[in-house]
Amino acid sequence: MKTTFSVIKADVGGWPGHATVHPDLEKIAYKSLLEAQREKIITDFHVTHCGDDLELIMTHTNGADCKEVHELAWNTFLAATEKARDLGLYGAGQDMLSDAFSGNVRGMGPGVAEIEFTERKAEPVITFLMDKTEPGAFNYPIFKIFADPFNTAGLVIDPSIHSGFIFEVWDIQEHKHVFLRTPEEMYDLLALIGAKSRFVVKRVFPKEDSKLPAKEPVSAISTEKLYQIAGEYVGKDDPVGIVRAQSGLPAVGEVLEGFTNAHLVSGWMRGSHNGPLMPVSVKDAKCTRFDGPPRVVALGFQLKNAKITQPVDLFDDPAFNRVREEALHITDYMRRMGPFEPHRLPMEDMEYTTLPKVMKKLGTRFKKFK
Ligand code: 13P
Ligand code: 13P
Ligand code: MG
Ligand code: MG
Repeated sequence: MKTTFSVIKADVGGWPGHATVHPDLEKIAYKSLLEAQREKIITDFHVTHCGDDLELIMTHTNGADCKEVHELAWNTFLAATEKARDLGLYGAGQDMLSDAFSGNVRGMGPGVAEIEFTERKAEPVITFLMDKTEPGAFNYPIFKIFADPFNTAGLVIDPSIHSGFIFEVWDIQEHKHVFLRTPEEMYDLLALIGAKSRFVVKRVFPKEDSKLPAKEPVSAISTEKLYQIAGEYVGKDDPVGIVRAQSGLPAVGEVLEGFTNAHLVSGWMRGSHNGPLMPVSVKDAKCTRFDGPPRVVALGFQLKNAKITQPVDLFDDPAFNRVREEALHITDYMRRMGPFEPHRLPMEDMEYTTLPKVMKKLGTRFKKFK
């Protein structure tokens, strides 16, 4: 039987502002998933947060897009929203964009990353949880992990991954996707995913000669864009991702190495600023300075018969201190830019924020000049 690893997240209220998740919301989510585990809807689970996003990590044997599992997530977020309202948390129900569940949480506000796969003898799985950024923030590290030989030594020296991987890239504006093979189409891939607000890596697959089944993803990223669902800025599409590791895949350390550059991502303060992505422990996954800087948490699990071990908080390690320091240095530098681009996002990306309302007020005062 195949195992499904589902990570479903939503911001159902921040504490305070957009900083973090109140522990009472996590308690409600834990109770809800424990009940579902007893009812055998899911096999195992872990509840956590990154910034103000409540994260449900679930394993089961029902496949991706399973109605019962999505409904469970939806109802869990509804219960947590109710608590958030009672506590007066900020933006209660922020990502719950629909009134009624319609079979799948996709397009309803929450973010989803799911993989159904055949378990190997030992199955290391890492989930990445981000806050104050967008799905395209994963493009850079996922490329590094699966396609950059300077990041992943195995691409060069391990025959089981030497032939490379296949990337599924979504054009989130045109709603089209394309499959690109690395290393042979690496430059085409980079031509697309460098434009990270439009082209996002959705999944990575092994090549045909891999010992892993060709149709089973080895990585998946949530690609929901909230403003595309809601038609206006309602908070951000803070993304989650799943990466499997070892034996025919990059090693755990090669996966983590993809996050050692504090690369610039968009989504900081009011969803309107670029800033460095800082890898942090769960304990430090609260967005404070200028509502950030954007953060990423990595939780590592071993999986067996769809049961997961306790997570290892992988960025809770001095080995990542320098990246964090660099992120803080970049933070200082970029903050000094204030409202100037490229700290602030370019005009086309500000379209869904509150800026057009300010511009509208000025509209009638503009006169043609010769
Ligand atoms: P395994 O061969 O045990 O997966 O480990 C490879 C390795 O050396 C990781 O750094
Ligand atoms: P969230 O999308 O994490 O709620 O953040 C909203 C924001 O823009 C905070 O500055
Ligand atoms: Mg929020
Ligand atoms: Mg958030």
